[in-house]
Amino acid sequence: METDTVPKTFVAGSFLADAKSGEKEPLGNRIIEIPEDFVQFENRDARSRFIAYVPVGSVKKGEALAAMGVGNPPAQCATCHGAGLQGLGAVPALAGRSPSYFVRQLYDFKQGARAGTGSESMKPIADVLSVDDMLVLAAYAASLPVHGAATQ
Ligand code: HEC
Repeated sequence: METDTVPKTFVAGSFLADAKSGEKEPLGNRIIEIPEDFVQFENRDARSRFIAYVPVGSVKKGEALAAMGVGNPPAQCATCHGAGLQGLGAVPALAGRSPSYFVRQLYDFKQGARAGTGSESMKPIADVLSVDDMLVLAAYAASLPVHGAATQ
């Protein structure tokens, strides 16, 4: 969801949760991702969903960057990740993925922390992405509908 303000959150273990204080704070240039229903998530209900708040305009910016491609020559995300970023063969789907996870993976490819077999395709791409690029790409991918398989 694109927004300028988010509910105040607190760190609940390894993720953020709505503090339910009724207070809001500016989102700024961040993605805030919280469970829609904290108790349902804590109870490990497989139907529990997350909501990701992203800066206004980031989905369109990410769509444009994914289509334009990254690097020289430009590599478009859909060339490997498939139409609608639904995945292609062994290349993972990006549609509907958690933006926090998404940015973490790009960051780790760039830093070399994720360097397993298969990561060679992503390293040169992640190398030229700024954190702002990662943010808008994550917002765009998360906004895409997931076809076929159940949402994770
Ligand atoms: C040349 C092919 C290629 C292109 C182009 C490409 N990717 Fe990838 N991407 C891969 C492969 C292969 C993997 C799986 C890497 C692995 O196994 O570690 C991957 C993995 C990822 C992951 C981690 C997914 C996961 O499940 O952990 C993200 C995020 C990602 N790519 C984002 C992007 C974005 C954003 C773009 C466009 C800017 C892009 N990729 C373009 C081949 C590509």
